Amino acid sequence: MLNEGDGMTGPIPVSNRAANIEYAIRDVVVPAVELEAQGHEILKLNIGDPIAYPGLPTPPHMVEAYVEALRNGKNGYSPSYGLPVLREAIAKDEQRKGWNATSDDVYVCHGVTEALQLIFAAVLDEGTKVLAPGPHYPPYMAYPQMYGAETVEYQLHSDDGWKLDFGDIEEKMDDDVRLLVLINPNNPCGTVCGEEDIDALLAIARKYPNCIVVADEIYDGLDFTGQHVSVASRSHDVPVIALNGVSKVYYAPGWRIGYMALHDPAKRMNNVRDGLERLLRSRLCASTPAQIGYLAGLEQDRSWMDGYATRVKQQRDHCLKRIEQIEGLEVEQPGGAFYMFIRLTDEAWANDDKLFVLNLLHEEHVLLVHGSGFSPRLGKGHVRLVYLADVEVLDEAFDRMDRFLQKHRTTNMS
Ligand SMILES: Cc1ncc(COP(=O)(O)O)c(C=O)c1O
Repeated sequence: MLNEGDGMTGPIPVSNRAANIEYAIRDVVVPAVELEAQGHEILKLNIGDPIAYPGLPTPPHMVEAYVEALRNGKNGYSPSYGLPVLREAIAKDEQRKGWNATSDDVYVCHGVTEALQLIFAAVLDEGTKVLAPGPHYPPYMAYPQMYGAETVEYQLHSDDGWKLDFGDIEEKMDDDVRLLVLINPNNPCGTVCGEEDIDALLAIARKYPNCIVVADEIYDGLDFTGQHVSVASRSHDVPVIALNGVSKVYYAPGWRIGYMALHDPAKRMNNVRDGLERLLRSRLCASTPAQIGYLAGLEQDRSWMDGYATRVKQQRDHCLKRIEQIEGLEVEQPGGAFYMFIRLTDEAWANDDKLFVLNLLHEEHVLLVHGSGFSPRLGKGHVRLVYLADVEVLDEAFDRMDRFLQKHRTTNMS
């Protein structure tokens, strides 16, 4: 038994794995919540959740199906790989995207985020690498280190539409890279890759027999270029894991339903598939009624999606016009998703994008996310803005950003 003073008062150690995790998008919410508690109203343009903004609700027929499922007692566990009807509907949807998916290739998860954790757990070991775009959605950096792996970033061209730098990818590929990630359309930059880019990426991956391409296509229904194609549809040999779900283009992120679909034309993922299935069984299943809600989204009329996408595109165009008129801001036109990765051209802010975000929040009550939170090196000097808010809110936010930039520019120069 320990006596007083034997060390019972010190903190119990946290694992390094958890202590190193960062998620910039939610980390900046902490000071915003403090300001709200003091009675300030914050214009929040930080979170990629369509439900956080008015006018883009989850389609009623999906909500109805979810509610009906609850009423009909569909409240039990379901099969670990997903409800068979949903797996079938997802496979058909992937077939429409141009490859021969079957329901056995589809595994339903608790969002793409869980799929990522399972893929990393099934593929990564000490000393292996993930090659992911920089900047990128933060879990691609945060999770692999839990398995002793490292995420290396390949560069996106910040002054040319954030296109992929294939020379950089070639240079950074080696036999330890087990996962080559493409986020298409990209979060946070909005880049859309078409056939040519995807073929070039697959040509590189083909040279490395232990490499799987992870194709995060969760924003594929928000492509304003008309160029988007599924990676699996372009691969005749390279193994691809396609990721998608209900969060973004079905406007129901809180349901936590997503999937991974394994395209394995050369039958090289059998062991990985076995590992994934073991992991899936060990975590029981994804939410049963939410899967039924998603099924309604896949099986019933989807014409509503175009209306939503048109609205999002109009808001993008409006923001592009506003940014053009503001000294201190520049942006590459995003081709898809609902993000803008805005360049801060005033030197002081270009060197400290987090300070920009925090000062803008405190002085003008506008919340963005610092670009360095998406990549300390390649996202630096930028901020991410979600353009899903009403045009009036976006206008007010841009007025405040303009005022803030002018005020500090005068101070700097005096
Ligand atoms: C590129 C990307 N992948 C995955 C996710 C999360 O997907 P889910 O809600 O299905 O976990 C996000 C969320 O912002 C994202 O931007």
